[in-house]
Amino acid sequence: MAALELDDIQSGVLRPRPTPFAATYTIFRIDDRSAGRELMRRLGTVVASAAHPESPARDTWISISLSFQGLKALGVPQASLDSFPPQFQEGMAARAKALGDVDESSPEKWESPLGSADVHVVLTAISKDTQQLESALNRAREAYHQLPGIAAIWRQDCHAAPDEKEQFGYKDGISHPAIEGSGIPGSNPQERPLRAGEFVLGYPDEISDSPSIPQPEILGRNGSYVAFRKLHQHVAAFRRYLKENSSNRDGEELLAAKMMGRWRSGAPLASCPMHDDAAIGLDAKRNNDFLFKADDAIGYKTPPGSHIRRMNPRDADIAGVVRIHRMIRRGTAYGPVLPPDVMDDDGVDRGIIFAFVGANLGRQFEFLQSEWMNDGAFFGGKPDKDPISGSDDGTGTFDVPRRPVRMRLNGLPRFVVTRGGEYCFLPGLRAIRWLADLKT
Ligand code: HEM
Repeated sequence: MAALELDDIQSGVLRPRPTPFAATYTIFRIDDRSAGRELMRRLGTVVASAAHPESPARDTWISISLSFQGLKALGVPQASLDSFPPQFQEGMAARAKALGDVDESSPEKWESPLGSADVHVVLTAISKDTQQLESALNRAREAYHQLPGIAAIWRQDCHAAPDEKEQFGYKDGISHPAIEGSGIPGSNPQERPLRAGEFVLGYPDEISDSPSIPQPEILGRNGSYVAFRKLHQHVAAFRRYLKENSSNRDGEELLAAKMMGRWRSGAPLASCPMHDDAAIGLDAKRNNDFLFKADDAIGYKTPPGSHIRRMNPRDADIAGVVRIHRMIRRGTAYGPVLPPDVMDDDGVDRGIIFAFVGANLGRQFEFLQSEWMNDGAFFGGKPDKDPISGSDDGTGTFDVPRRPVRMRLNGLPRFVVTRGGEYCFLPGLRAIRWLADLKT
């Protein structure tokens, strides 16, 4: 097993975050190459490594990543740019069709400047509370305000509540893969740790002992890719759908659980098929300790079309190999919670800033979006979409296996709309210094 160079990997790739927390995403445009390099130099000093996650930036954890356009703006040599994978070079907006970003979610409707060539550097700052975060951001502002040639062009504040619930009301942040050599335990004791190269570049992965990485080695090694997405959630529409398709409150909760594969408390249907058990939802030792094949091959407990079974079919019989499509997720809620029982849209923007972290945009993130989220063929189902986050158009269906006959829900609308996003490269710490020292 290859030892991971934890001191060269950004802490945000591997380390779980504090709970609760406040976070801010800031996007920078580099108008001047040498200012961009100076920005890398300054930011490089405040990024924590996975070996020393104690923050060098006074209780605020900073991660930095760059889009393909950002690497270009820094003057990364062409041969090196050409060594990045095509999806990354094209950028997220160009991949809209494969990702299901159509209709309401199509890039022409994205929030500016998301999806444009102006998105160069994405800085994520996380603190335990808003006050600490604000003072860290003020310090950061001083740093880049003295740098003409760098413009902060977008900011999104987000938060994780103490109960870690996302806007539809489900507990999030439960299931994470274990990574060989990281020393950080996974959440499912029944999943063998994945080879490190699935998440960090420069290590053996599940397919090859030496997967190719961007060149030169010093730039690619210990990096990862991130796919950021701002996902607006139609919370009122989701609540109405549950109500209209259930006969009472308990029925609504059961339907919500069937769509997710977990009760809103986080308790999995796999171990709590009939009733919620909030204590299991909260218990990290029990809330992800399950597989599907032995006692739920058909999906009487957890429907094959539910969000978590699509996104990680575990040991279920599907077309394909689950282990080459795993991901680290860093989702963070934004916007105020819609007050309980409100059934009409209040026009306020709320949702998730979703972040995928992994070594392969194509066979991990894009594959999940196109094959598992927006098609049901892989588990032998109809071409149905994920009932939570799929690109439905009001004609979607969702099957819940039941005896004697399955239940089929019709008329599924789209509950989640893409407001924008980008593919970025999260360089290792040495690579950040290499970028700062570029001489071209
Ligand atoms: C607004 C959109 C979304 C919402 C509300 C949402 C919500 C959730 C929740 C509540 C869970 C269960 C808790 C947990 O295991 O942490 C979950 C799991 C998961 N989601 Fe999402 N999600 C969204 C979008 C996505 C997207 C876009 C992807 C990937 C392309 C994704 C991939 C996953 C994966 C891989 C899991 C873990 C499955 C497992 O290992 O059991 N989700 N999501």
